[in-house]
Amino acid sequence: MNSNTDRNPAPRLEGKVAVVSGAGTYGGSGVGNGAAVAILMAREGAKVVLVDAEKQWADATRAIIEEEGGEAITATANVTDGEDCRKAIDAAVERFGGIHILHNNVGGGAGSGSVVEATEEAWQASMSINLMSMINMSRYAIPHMASSGGGAIINVSSVTALRPKAGRSSAPYTVNKSAVVGLTRAMALDHAEENVRVNCIMPGLMWTPRVASGGSANARETRQTSTPLPVEGESWDIGWASVFLASDQAKFVTGITLPVDGGFLLTSAPN
Ligand SMILES: NC(=O)c1ccc[n+]([C@@H]2O[C@H](COP(=O)([O-])OP(=O)(O)OC[C@H]3O[C@@H](n4cnc5c(N)ncnc54)[C@H](O)[C@@H]3O)[C@@H](O)[C@H]2O)c1
Repeated sequence: MNSNTDRNPAPRLEGKVAVVSGAGTYGGSGVGNGAAVAILMAREGAKVVLVDAEKQWADATRAIIEEEGGEAITATANVTDGEDCRKAIDAAVERFGGIHILHNNVGGGAGSGSVVEATEEAWQASMSINLMSMINMSRYAIPHMASSGGGAIINVSSVTALRPKAGRSSAPYTVNKSAVVGLTRAMALDHAEENVRVNCIMPGLMWTPRVASGGSANARETRQTSTPLPVEGESWDIGWASVFLASDQAKFVTGITLPVDGGFLLTSAPN
């Protein structure tokens, strides 16, 4: 891809190898953020490595990709474990010969409460799943990207980083999702010379299987009415934004944080 006169470009990720963490879907049915990213990257021509702690959930994503004619393998790993991260990256390189894209999707609400309430263990758990997972996956992937001329990393934060939930804050989650933005900027600068681009996506109130599994009866409606755009945020929205950031069409984009939130961050927090 080299010019704006290209009217019928090839699939945008042709020839690329993409590693996606949390590429299964919570509960195994429907499509979560990580699965949507993996499926769309495969549709755009990437060979995809589906990293997940739950093999059967990653297998479900692989089945969708293969049914559509794409290519994917699964790598079972708990990305809070540095050694598991190394093995997942090694598996990708062994199978496909290199890595060009790393999508760090795994994250979650481990550790709730304010600084007064949350225990030290809760802080450690939150840092481990939201931050160290991304650090370790990147630590092992970047040398492979650099040796093949560059790559693209996408780290997943949350709008909660900028707008903690009023009255029921989860300080560990808020803090670690904020740190994902700082991590992204530090990595982007540190690895710019190696042509490794690092960007961050900040999802808003998406309706995903994981959210649905823990939501109350009116959770879906509350989410919809909290967002200015009159459409529901779904995993595919995160997927398409990720495809763009991973593609050569974003070759001059690094260090940014892209909200995909239907305008949620334009509004003020509820009282
Ligand atoms: N859904 C939302 O509204 C929303 C909003 C803001 C941010 N996010 C962020 O999006 C990401 C997840 O999206 P989702 O809710 O669609 O879930 P998802 O379905 O994309 O991810 C769940 C998958 O991750 C896997 N996983 C969990 N912990 C793991 C671990 N330690 N190692 C390996 N795999 C693991 C699960 O087995 C599951 O298959 C998180 O980073 C979350 O913070 C989501």
